[in-house]
Amino acid sequence: MTANIIDGTRIAGEIRQEVGEAVAAMKAEHGYTPGLATVLVGDNPASATYVRMKQKACAEAGIRSIGHNIPADSLESEVLELVSSLNADPEVNGILVQLPLPDHIDEEAVLNTIDLEKDVDGFHPVNIGRLAMKGRDPLFIPCTPHGIIELLKRSGVQLSGAEAVIVGRSNIVGLPVAMLLQKDNATVTICHSRTRDLGGHTRRADILVAAIGRREMITGDMVKPGAAVIDVGINQKEDPTKKRGYRLVGDVDYDSVKEVAGAITPVPGGVGPMTIAMLLGNTYRAAEIALGI
Ligand code: GUN
Repeated sequence: MTANIIDGTRIAGEIRQEVGEAVAAMKAEHGYTPGLATVLVGDNPASATYVRMKQKACAEAGIRSIGHNIPADSLESEVLELVSSLNADPEVNGILVQLPLPDHIDEEAVLNTIDLEKDVDGFHPVNIGRLAMKGRDPLFIPCTPHGIIELLKRSGVQLSGAEAVIVGRSNIVGLPVAMLLQKDNATVTICHSRTRDLGGHTRRADILVAAIGRREMITGDMVKPGAAVIDVGINQKEDPTKKRGYRLVGDVDYDSVKEVAGAITPVPGGVGPMTIAMLLGNTYRAAEIALGI
């Protein structure tokens, strides 16, 4: 059996289209344009690329974006002041501080400072806390985990009652996706670097999410036949046939896993495009909150 390919680029395109239409309707009905402020501290090339992609996607959806790029040696107090000024700016609905921050800046202090109602990344401890609690809902759901849930649902994967195994426990992906799957009534196991018999867990999974950050670590023998496999990894692999000398691969060994799984996300073109689509959705929602609708 060869797995169905879950086309993240296509599904993200549908969501971007939906958000673009909602933004146009908001402009027509309320004369209001949603705005996203991006904050990039330093010049990490990958972070700079992600921020540029987010700004371009905003423009295509009719969302204003306001970019703040500040030097890597900025003081923590300067970053906090910038975030406070964006909290106070009525033209800014969403604030996105690109992570990781330089080591001398306390990430928690910065994320704590973002207004809950502008926390379009969903990383504020109160939003994460609400995500973790039964019967409570956050104002915003973190973009990559939310994108994973949308990929599964829009591909017809049943979440309720499914065995879901997540490999990786990061604050940005592993932990929140586990909480979301659990809210959708999956039975959730989180595996990590100290897990004994990783394959014993992954082979039970109807839904397997790989968010480890280790290239091609999940191989076909670790996957249950017919499982839905979501690959969050983005890693470089040497490839002399490419001009830049490498290609991008995930945390899943695509060639062996696609022969066993029922559905699989490719890298690139799987989870990646969804992160941006969900950010646009969150920014639109933030504008609705600002308008009181
Ligand atoms: N770094 C990696 N992923 C993300 C994300 O979704 N949001 C932000 N702000 N930083 C990130």
